[in-house]
Amino acid sequence: MSDLKKLESEILAAVAAAAGAATLEAVRVAALGKKGSVSELLKTLGSMTAEQKKAQGPLINGLRDRVTVAIAARKAALDSATVAEKLKADNADVTLSVRASGIERGRIHPVSQVVDEITAIFADMGFAIAEGPDIETDFYNFTALNFPAGHPARDMHDTFFFEPKADGERLVLRTHTSPVQIRTLEKHKPPIRVVIPGRTYRRDSDQTHTPMFHQVEGLVIDKGSHLGHLKWILEEFCKAFFEVPQVKMRFRPSFFPFTEPSLEVDIQYSRVGNEIRFGEGDDWMEILGCGMVHPNVLRNVGLDPDEYQGFAWGLGIDRIAMLKYGMPDLRAFFEADVRWLEYYGFKPLDFPTLAGGLST
Ligand code: DAH
Repeated sequence: MSDLKKLESEILAAVAAAAGAATLEAVRVAALGKKGSVSELLKTLGSMTAEQKKAQGPLINGLRDRVTVAIAARKAALDSATVAEKLKADNADVTLSVRASGIERGRIHPVSQVVDEITAIFADMGFAIAEGPDIETDFYNFTALNFPAGHPARDMHDTFFFEPKADGERLVLRTHTSPVQIRTLEKHKPPIRVVIPGRTYRRDSDQTHTPMFHQVEGLVIDKGSHLGHLKWILEEFCKAFFEVPQVKMRFRPSFFPFTEPSLEVDIQYSRVGNEIRFGEGDDWMEILGCGMVHPNVLRNVGLDPDEYQGFAWGLGIDRIAMLKYGMPDLRAFFEADVRWLEYYGFKPLDFPTLAGGLST
């Protein structure tokens, strides 16, 4: 092999073996740099005879051209390998789904949702919303509501009592939302139309009872209010709440100290598989107590029962939530299991309105 051929194959082998930009640059300088092997050969052309130049010129220039091309090609290959490696390192998996923000992941508890639904319906009928304290005095929870001291009706409520105070008074966790009837009547003159959602407490626990539960109280006081109004309001409420065109309700005579007459109301439903249908079937669920406000209750707040009359009701919120949304066990409501809440909860931005739909 001629010296030129040997030199060329050495340089090309070094080019091919260069694993990085720095090595390749060193190979380039060694061949094509000022003092490089190929540059030195090119310099020898100046001192050659015309004859020698003719023979050696194309060989040496050809060598320079092939080395230049080989270096450029190797450089391009190394560059693109570097870019590929960089891209691999920077790899972002754009197929990974975006994690939902808090407002999309958070859920409204079914009890809050149902309270919002109920208040939306009654607000639409012109009712105001009232609230009262969870810790009550015996006076508001019982006495003012016409439960006389020692009356057996007090025992119907499995009351949580606080330790007696120095003066012997025992506060209670309110057993119903009815005390807020008294608080409202003390503050406002009739005509009155209010609904009162809130927490209530009784010593009771099984699949459909929890020590803390929720009621919504309704109260209407005016000069001509009668049971017909009450029935209409409750029926309209049930149709709107259960989002059905018809409901069947059963009004049974009952007893509450603060109403006369008193009634209990059941709603008819049937369960077909997982689906609950209203206005048909053999199942009845008791959902509320109601009646005409007792004259003694009116007297207790300084109203003349010959001038004013009205009606009231107390509705179990948790029960109707279970019925509407098919939740089988009330105790799960208060276990704070996020998986339960993810399944039964509601999206925070889907606020219930009558126009927009209560539960959609
Ligand atoms: N307070 C009653 C209860 O908890 C429910 C009730 C019945 C409320 C009749 C009323 C009513 O306002 O008129 O069992």
